[in-house]
Amino acid sequence: MIRVGIIGVGNIASMLVQSIEFYKSSSQKPEGLIHTKIGGYEISDINVVYAIDVSKYKVGRDLRDAIFAKPNLVPKMVELPETGVVVRMGRVLDGVAEHMREDFPISDLRQPTLDELVDEVRSYSIDVLVNLLPVGSREASRFYAEVAAKAGAAFVNAIPEFIASDPQYSLLFEKYESLVLGDDIKGQIGATAVHRALASLITMRGGKVAESYQLNVGGNTDFKNMLDLQRLYSKKISKTMAVATTQPDPSTAAEKIFAGPSGYIPFLRNTKVSYIYIKALGFMNLPVVIDLKLTVDDKAMAAAVLVDVVRIAKVLRSRGIYGGPAWASGFYFKHPPKPAKSDEEALAILYKKLDELKIPIEPKRIPEWMLRND
Ligand SMILES: NC(=O)c1ccc[n+]([C@@H]2O[C@H](COP(=O)([O-])OP(=O)(O)OC[C@H]3O[C@@H](n4cnc5c(N)ncnc54)[C@H](O)[C@@H]3O)[C@@H](O)[C@H]2O)c1
Repeated sequence: MIRVGIIGVGNIASMLVQSIEFYKSSSQKPEGLIHTKIGGYEISDINVVYAIDVSKYKVGRDLRDAIFAKPNLVPKMVELPETGVVVRMGRVLDGVAEHMREDFPISDLRQPTLDELVDEVRSYSIDVLVNLLPVGSREASRFYAEVAAKAGAAFVNAIPEFIASDPQYSLLFEKYESLVLGDDIKGQIGATAVHRALASLITMRGGKVAESYQLNVGGNTDFKNMLDLQRLYSKKISKTMAVATTQPDPSTAAEKIFAGPSGYIPFLRNTKVSYIYIKALGFMNLPVVIDLKLTVDDKAMAAAVLVDVVRIAKVLRSRGIYGGPAWASGFYFKHPPKPAKSDEEALAILYKKLDELKIPIEPKRIPEWMLRND
């Protein structure tokens, strides 16, 4: 069993909790998962046993109800048993933007100190703590990362704050015999994964990306929160560099790449629409233009990756792999400590390392012969 704690009971949390129950059903084939088994763990081994929020709509409620409290809008897709997990009060810090106070009204309950939360996380024997705070939660993310480290829990940083990619945090987690993975979830078949795949295809075929943009619109609180441009600083870097790092000279490529959230359209709800434009230069420097529209369920894209990452975090921690193992983050995050040139490369790195550690993962998504060194 993997004991997971969630920080921020928003739409991803709702999708994550429901997806675990969805795949538990015996009639449901394990289709749509990136990996069915990691280190012997299936998705049904994941148990969300602890959750923190600061909203008065969510704190104090059973997780089963809190995931449907407003302004969450992931629909009810499965019947959930009562979880007995009551959402705990967290520390607000910079988690709630001024324009989000109506959506995330702060509970009157006392905010715990860092030491109190460390004790709490320890007392729940949490294996993995997942950071699902709103974009721009710089201080709050660092606060909870410290809580995880000091409690000896692994920390999965799903949001665009640079924590796993900051060597100081690797050292902190190493000191407390735990680990950190991140930063910023790269959705299963989301805009970044598709944009990267096209950009690396262009390079592989001898061309280069001359200019590109990725415009994203959606209708959930994640998009509403990002209307405050000041909260977007790290998100823009994370999304831009995710594409630029597929190119031979990432910093020059980044000057001609724009990738970021571009609009909040409430009626879209959880549907995210991305418009990707790439102008590449190919043979004889002649242009090749790609214009693409991608439509996805924003939160399913994130939860699909989380169910892999929490299992990896659990297995590595129990095998004594501490700090910030960069090889474990490359495939799953937009801004990992060491980005690979393509997702195939990132996946090959992950598989080879897991193989060295004798940690099974199945099914393998790239051919075995690509993983041999001979
Ligand atoms: N495809 C994706 O959905 C995707 C991909 C990559 C990254 N992310 C990031 O994941 C994060 C979570 O996304 P979401 O859609 O679930 O967000 P959300 O807006 O639905 O939920 C955020 C939750 O955090 C709570 N919160 C705010 N401040 C807090 C604090 N200080 N302590 C505890 N809880 C606090 C809010 O009350 C809310 O319940 C966002 O930063 C998002 O950008 C999402």
